[in-house]
Amino acid sequence: MDFVKGRISLPPLPVGKRWVLPIFVSSLIFAFLLLTSLNMGMLASLSTLNAALFSPDIDTSTPSPAPSPPLQPPPPPAVIIPRLAYLISGSKGDLDCLWRTLYALYHPRNIYVLHLDLKSPVAERKNLAARVANQSLFSMVGNVHVISKANMVTYRGATMVANTLHACAILLKKSKDWDWFINLSASDYPLVTQDDLLFTFSKLPKNLNFLEHTSVLGWKEEQRAKPLIIDPGLYKKSKSDVFWVSPKRELPNAFKLFTGSAWMVLTREFIEFCIWGWDNLPRTLLMYYTNFLSSPEGYFQTVICNSQEFNSTAVNHDLHYITWDNPPKQHPHILTLNDTAKMIKSNFPFARKFKKNDPVLDKIDAELLRRPKNAVVPGGWCTGMPKCSNISDEGRLDPGPGSQRLAQLMDKLVMFDSFKLDQCK
Ligand SMILES: *[C@@H]1O[C@H](CO)[C@@H](O)[C@H](O)[C@H]1NC(C)=O
Ligand SMILES: *[C@@H]1O[C@H](CO)[C@@H](O)[C@H](O)[C@H]1NC(C)=O
Ligand SMILES: *[C@@H]1O[C@H](CO)[C@@H](O)[C@H](O)[C@H]1NC(C)=O
Ligand SMILES: *[C@@H]1O[C@H](CO)[C@@H](O)[C@H](O)[C@H]1NC(C)=O
Ligand SMILES: *[C@@H]1O[C@H](CO)[C@@H](O)[C@H](O)[C@H]1NC(C)=O
Repeated sequence: MDFVKGRISLPPLPVGKRWVLPIFVSSLIFAFLLLTSLNMGMLASLSTLNAALFSPDIDTSTPSPAPSPPLQPPPPPAVIIPRLAYLISGSKGDLDCLWRTLYALYHPRNIYVLHLDLKSPVAERKNLAARVANQSLFSMVGNVHVISKANMVTYRGATMVANTLHACAILLKKSKDWDWFINLSASDYPLVTQDDLLFTFSKLPKNLNFLEHTSVLGWKEEQRAKPLIIDPGLYKKSKSDVFWVSPKRELPNAFKLFTGSAWMVLTREFIEFCIWGWDNLPRTLLMYYTNFLSSPEGYFQTVICNSQEFNSTAVNHDLHYITWDNPPKQHPHILTLNDTAKMIKSNFPFARKFKKNDPVLDKIDAELLRRPKNAVVPGGWCTGMPKCSNISDEGRLDPGPGSQRLAQLMDKLVMFDSFKLDQCK
């Protein structure tokens, strides 16, 4: 282990084969290097983590000199740590929840767009903008943006998808170099640190889109695909719920409908496809979904699975721990301390939904994130511990036990291209 200290480099592996030991290794030394670097992700024990100062692309120091083997293989390229682009949105009364979720998700490599919708009072939205401006770390890095011209958002309506696309467009404009878009609400919370997440995602093929999807519509055929709804949020100043109009419409035959979860992790490339629309599919489907009840649970799924360019990149998982009461209610089960063990065992990076300042959030902060009160989650990037007030090395990751849980999940999801068997079916 000792001679890889200071830097971990992974050779590029063929797409979908990242989690197996490839056979192409010609030199024994190279094989050993590879083994140790793969171990870092899958079996990272605390001791190996301590031994490894993960210092990637922006590191200008030369790799620590290994005892030179007789046949020196070319140095493998350094791991590129990705950047994540988050939308965190909320409504009236969500300011404190949103702020806490932002702290739990913060990392200087990432970019954040915050949105409190029009139902939230002006004072609350101004307060959010003031908090961001007054947070010295955020203003120093400049990666937290607040949507000041708030959108009207109707639960289940087209304005919800419009809001998500709006955030995507802002994120594309603000930064040229993020890799994945993640849509969260103020009542979501992470179960791993951003160091864990960035570390794990640095080893994934960059083209994977995580979104739960199926073409088996079941009851949704009658309840979702055929009814026509109007979202008044598209044209009215005050908030009112969607309403139904008749007659109903037939199922489409120009494309195939897919449905799934409204939570997803999408690549920049796919987001560009949706926003720019060089193929007309994302645009026409957006118009189709205007009158579709609960369009956030189908729009991106239907776009990706009907697109030749992207249909092979869909991983059928939303990376969210969500449970339902028995019998199921309209909203998911509210997670409490009682759910802690199952939540952690799921290995999922995110969970919802939580009540404001529920004790289980304190437990997640203390045990999974090691987040001090009113401070961001510490990571390899920061100095000024425990409160992480300044950045020493933005590209340095200190993955913890959360990265092991994530590696297990990714192993299950993408190993041997197994996800292809469950793709756009
Ligand atoms: C600005 O931040 C300081 C400390 O970081 C805090 O004491 C003060 O209350 C904040 N002001 C606002 C308007 O949030
Ligand atoms: C995005 O996030 C919001 C939470 O504010 C959620 O309700 C919505 O359905 C999500 N998904 C999409 C595709 O907009
Ligand atoms: C993707 O689209 C192509 C062309 O329509 C099709 O042949 C292929 O089976 C699709 N793949 C998946 C996984 O749906
Ligand atoms: C947790 O479970 C216990 C025992 O089943 C129950 O009495 C308690 O109300 C639960 N607590 C919460 C917060 O749901
Ligand atoms: C943060 O660190 C930089 C150098 O890395 C230093 O110039 C700056 O003064 C520090 N800022 C604070 C607030 O400590």
